[in-house]
Amino acid sequence: MAEDHQGRGLSKVLLDAMADTARRAGLGTVLVPVRPTWKERYPLVPIERYAAWTRDDGTPFDPWIRTQVGAGGTIAAASAHSSRITGTVAEWEHWTGLALPEDGEYVFPGGLAPLQVDRARDRGAYWEPGVWITHEA
Ligand SMILES: CC(C)(COP(=O)(O)OP(=O)(O)OC[C@H]1O[C@@H](n2cnc3c(N)ncnc32)[C@H](O)[C@@H]1OP(=O)(O)O)[C@@H](O)C(=O)NCCC(=O)NCCS
Repeated sequence: MAEDHQGRGLSKVLLDAMADTARRAGLGTVLVPVRPTWKERYPLVPIERYAAWTRDDGTPFDPWIRTQVGAGGTIAAASAHSSRITGTVAEWEHWTGLALPEDGEYVFPGGLAPLQVDRARDRGAYWEPGVWITHEA
C-alpha cells in the first residue's frame, strides 16, 4: 500500500469488499496469501514461529497479520516455501544491491528469509515464506 495511504484503515475496506464479492458469488471462504510486513526485520526466524508471535495485548505481532485477524481472519497455515526466486549471482547482486563474494547464506534488505548463493553454479536461490489467512465470506 502506498505510504501516504497506510494507517488509515483502508485494508479493512478492501478485505470486506473481497468477502462481499465472494459471498455474492456463492463462495464460502476467502483465502489470502499474506506477506508479513515486519518479517523482513527477522529473516532468520522460521515463519511458523514468527506468525505465532503476539504482542502483550494478545494480538498478532506483525501489523499485516494483526490487521487481517482484526478483520475476522484466521491464520490457516504458515509456509516456508511460498514463492521460489532464482537468478545468477550477478542478478542477485543487482537486485539486492549487495556484493556476494562467497558461497553461503546472506540476509538482504527486504528479504523475509536468507538467500543461498552457490558461486560455482553461478546461482542464487531464495524461498519467500508466507502466511495463509482465511476469511469467512
Ligand atoms: C500493515 C498494513 C497492511 C495495514 O493496513 P492499513 O489499512 O494501512 O492499517 P490500519 O490503519 O488498519 O492499521 C492496522 C494496524 O497496522 C499498523 N500499521 C499501519 N501501517 C503500518 C506500517 N506502515 N508499518 C507498521 N504498522 C503499520 C497500525 O498501527 C495498526 O496497528 P494496531 O493494530 O496497533 O492499531 C499497512 O499499513 C502496511 O504496513 N503497508 C506496507 C506493506 C504492505 O503494503 N503490505 C501489504 C502487502 S500484501
